[in-house]
Amino acid sequence: MSDEVPITVTVNGTVHRASVDARTHAADFLRHTLHMTGTHVGCEQGVCGMCTVLLDGDAVKSCLLLAPQLDGHEIETVESLADGDGLNALQEAFRDAHALQCGFCTPGFLMTTTALARDGRRRSREEIREELSGVLCRCTGYENIVTAVERHLSEARGV
Ligand code: FES
Ligand code: FES
Repeated sequence: MSDEVPITVTVNGTVHRASVDARTHAADFLRHTLHMTGTHVGCEQGVCGMCTVLLDGDAVKSCLLLAPQLDGHEIETVESLADGDGLNALQEAFRDAHALQCGFCTPGFLMTTTALARDGRRRSREEIREELSGVLCRCTGYENIVTAVERHLSEARGV
């Protein structure tokens, strides 16, 4: 009996129809089937947050989802942020605050923050730390990441 499952998923505004092995992780589907390698995979067990994408607008860890669970949903990956070669405002904030070193964690922080920015809520630096606590970074010590996110959220709110 085949374990292949047909799915239809919208990724960064494009509808994809595919037949996937029922046990394929969503992160692997994005990376290996759709070749969207901006979604990084670290721990594969929900700890590092590097695989974070948006599912219907909510930040989720794509290593904890199976590809068939994406069926009928809308996914946004880090590839959705830049406009061609132009960085978006959040990416510029990371660049300007020197908020990355090796960059392996960066997609996770960018997508987590993209979801945060959409609710328009004011957050303290401590609250930002708490919101970002699901993504790990081995390089930066987090200070500059929190600064980048703080600045971006302030600017997004026009304050
Ligand atoms: S790879 Fe998904 S949380 Fe680490
Ligand atoms: S910049 Fe290297 S893991 Fe965060």
